[in-house]
Amino acid sequence: MSLEKVDKKRLPKHIACVMDGNGRWAKQRNLKRTDGHAAGEEALMDVIEGALDMGVEWLTLYAFSTENWRRPVDEVRFLMQFNESILVRRRDELNDMGVRIRFIGRRDRRVPKRLLKQMDESTALTAGNRRLTLTIAFNYGAQAEIVDAVKQIVEKNVSASSVTADMISKHLYDPEMPEVDLWIRTSGEYRISNYLIWQSAYAELIFLETFWPDMRRTHLFDAVVEFQGRNRRFGGLSS
Ligand code: FPP
Repeated sequence: MSLEKVDKKRLPKHIACVMDGNGRWAKQRNLKRTDGHAAGEEALMDVIEGALDMGVEWLTLYAFSTENWRRPVDEVRFLMQFNESILVRRRDELNDMGVRIRFIGRRDRRVPKRLLKQMDESTALTAGNRRLTLTIAFNYGAQAEIVDAVKQIVEKNVSASSVTADMISKHLYDPEMPEVDLWIRTSGEYRISNYLIWQSAYAELIFLETFWPDMRRTHLFDAVVEFQGRNRRFGGLSS
């Protein structure tokens, strides 16, 4: 077990994952793309448990992007229902594990009201938990997030000279979210895809060949071990 190789004293505080490759996983097995998403649920739960095993405090998962509306209507409909169903079926279990569930993204009219209601209920149910903050990025795009932050600042008539990076951070969807330390994408694609761009300014990037439905906590432990072997300089020199 690679958990023993993880140095618990130097954990990344915040891990972000792009859960990619569900469609290709399904295609390899002559299944429908949506079967690939469904198979991703086991990976999702195992990765959350892996974060809890290590004691990682923040985990952010990309469930639906602002660009995913371009997918076929049936797949979009499936993803809406699937996300709702995961929340309804899993939130008590997550709550018992000490997981605080939060969401980032645009709450626009395209997101079904029923889903928004389940999102709000899941957030309220788990608000008192502190072991792990699980943020689900839903109808999320990093550029839209920055645009929304700037709009709020402009609406406050802030003078240009007083605009700072810290001010922008405080107007993002979750101002409490810490910077991303470890940014992971599965499926052998090497793209950022508009995910947590502001928060990942100094993140260590890890790209795994594994398709998301095959992702397990051991992959996450290995990624953390690799992260711990890297030399983070934040633009300065080695310490
Ligand atoms: C990318 O695979 C995956 C998605 C667009 C959706 C992933 C969503 C889940 C696993 C459900 C998450 C739910 C909660 C509540 C966190 P892809 O379809 O882009 O795969 P491909 O690149 O092989 O086509």
